[in-house]
Amino acid sequence: MAALSPRLRTALCVALLLLCAVTVVLLVVLLARAYSMKPAVPAPEIWDREGERRVEAAFSPQERRDLKEALKGAIRLQTVSFGPDDQNTTALAEFGPYIRKVFPAVFSAPFIQHEVIGGYSHLFTIQGSNPQLQPYMLIAHIDVVPASPTGWDVDDPFSAEERDGFIYGRGTLDNKNSVMGILQALEFLLRRNYRPRRSFYIGLGHDEEVDGQKGAVKIAAELESRGVKLSFLLDEGMFILDGVVTGLKKPAAIIAVTEKGAITADLSVTMVPGHSSAPPKRTSIGILSEALSRLEQQPMPNLFGKGPEIMMFEQLAPEFSFPLNIIMANLWLFGPLVSRVLEQTPTTNAMVRTTTAITMFRAGVKSNVIPPSATATVNFRIHPAQTVAEVLEIVEKTIDDKRVKIEAESAFDPLPVSPWDNQTFGLRVFRQTLLDVFPDVGSMAPGICIGNTDSRHFTNLTNAIYRFNPVVFKPDDMARFHGLNERISVESFEKQVEFLFQLIQNSDIDLSPEPHVNFHEL
Ligand SMILES: *[C@@H]1O[C@H](CO)[C@@H](O)[C@H](O)[C@H]1NC(C)=O
Ligand SMILES: *[C@@H]1O[C@H](CO)[C@@H](O)[C@H](O)[C@H]1NC(C)=O
Ligand SMILES: *[C@@H]1O[C@H](CO)[C@@H](O)[C@H](O)[C@H]1NC(C)=O
Ligand SMILES: [Zn+2]
Repeated sequence: MAALSPRLRTALCVALLLLCAVTVVLLVVLLARAYSMKPAVPAPEIWDREGERRVEAAFSPQERRDLKEALKGAIRLQTVSFGPDDQNTTALAEFGPYIRKVFPAVFSAPFIQHEVIGGYSHLFTIQGSNPQLQPYMLIAHIDVVPASPTGWDVDDPFSAEERDGFIYGRGTLDNKNSVMGILQALEFLLRRNYRPRRSFYIGLGHDEEVDGQKGAVKIAAELESRGVKLSFLLDEGMFILDGVVTGLKKPAAIIAVTEKGAITADLSVTMVPGHSSAPPKRTSIGILSEALSRLEQQPMPNLFGKGPEIMMFEQLAPEFSFPLNIIMANLWLFGPLVSRVLEQTPTTNAMVRTTTAITMFRAGVKSNVIPPSATATVNFRIHPAQTVAEVLEIVEKTIDDKRVKIEAESAFDPLPVSPWDNQTFGLRVFRQTLLDVFPDVGSMAPGICIGNTDSRHFTNLTNAIYRFNPVVFKPDDMARFHGLNERISVESFEKQVEFLFQLIQNSDIDLSPEPHVNFHEL
């Protein structure tokens, strides 16, 4: 090997030194960003609640039995939505008298008005003692998706059987736990002679699983016609994630600030029918299949970093263990890597892009007839950084075949992103209530809902819409949604009632002056 000339050696040394220097600087920057973020120490209480009239939760053994039995009774009413015009109206009609029976204080308080909306939905107006305070709203839904009668660990998905500390049944998580939790919390407050100071509304829709047109839409329209403006609205959505996000040291409360949009589109190809003994080169089925195959093989762009999905990782950065904390605190560098990892599983993939799901295919009339038409239904769920129009344009470009007709049957844009800052009243209430009820939770961060909720019908009433169920959610719970073995632990449901009980009281605090709060630190 020839010796290096002295000049070349010097140049090489300088280059190496520079490389070392750059590496050191980079390491310092990465570490500094990761460790300058505050650790997740419990922050002091944000409010001085001395002098506020508060009542203790401290549920008695009898109350704990009552709240559990009340939920079980609600599960047993089979309020199934089979389709927009196919609901179990018998069960829906039974639901009203049922809640009247188990929550007598709610139905007899002179400052609470109850109305039935759209036949089976319920609207409660709780008149606070201080009309100066802007009202808020809690919503949930009574209807459930159908349940397969077999495949469950218990005999019947509507029996509300209790086993190993869990109540099993359709609706235990989605969403009768919230319906009953909200009313139960209010019932307990009233029985302790608590009169809310801030007015609030409770909206219980009866057709969320089939779009909410008869329930939530009408409730929202009714309130809008009364000129109501809400301080914030809380609906179902995300959860307290425990062990779901790899590398997080403690459970994290994820509160969804937006939800994805959606398009249901029909793609079709029509042709002159003829006999299959002298077929054309391509039939409508072949042409459409090819178009669909292109859609599957060229997924929509990965948009990680372009929308609010990145906020969750940024805010949770200090909560991750090494080395994930370094990575999350430096998404400016590691973003592309993280986005590739997120693409790998369906649930996280749904967070980073508009998803494409071919859900139906209809074609052909007879085995020896050239199919006159082929139609497929494709369901897109739109990432918050895209719009309906943008997605349809990409679909057209990807298919690139004029013979394929694309028609959007229904479509709506992603929902506006709710505020995430230390001035927003609702967020401060959630933070304080989490501190009160879930001391093990290390952080609170914004997320996106990959499904849709009734809350999207309330955008004219407030920009502060939050989707959060105060229930601890473990990795195996995902499959229970709309699936088999949906369940809630008795302890989780008690905690949910307690959360709502404290949330109503915390919302009664008149805030001024506004303190400095970093939400990721609980
Ligand atoms: C409708 O609900 C009622 C009451 O819960 C139940 O008895 C009935 O079997 C349900 N019908 C269907 C079709 O689900
Ligand atoms: C909000 O109000 C506008 C204008 O009245 C109306 O067109 C729109 O449908 C309303 N949005 C919802 C979600 O009700
Ligand atoms: C809100 O938080 C931000 C960042 O954490 C901080 O810069 C700001 O001063 C806070 N505002 C108030 C009013 O505390
Ligand atoms: Zn739901």
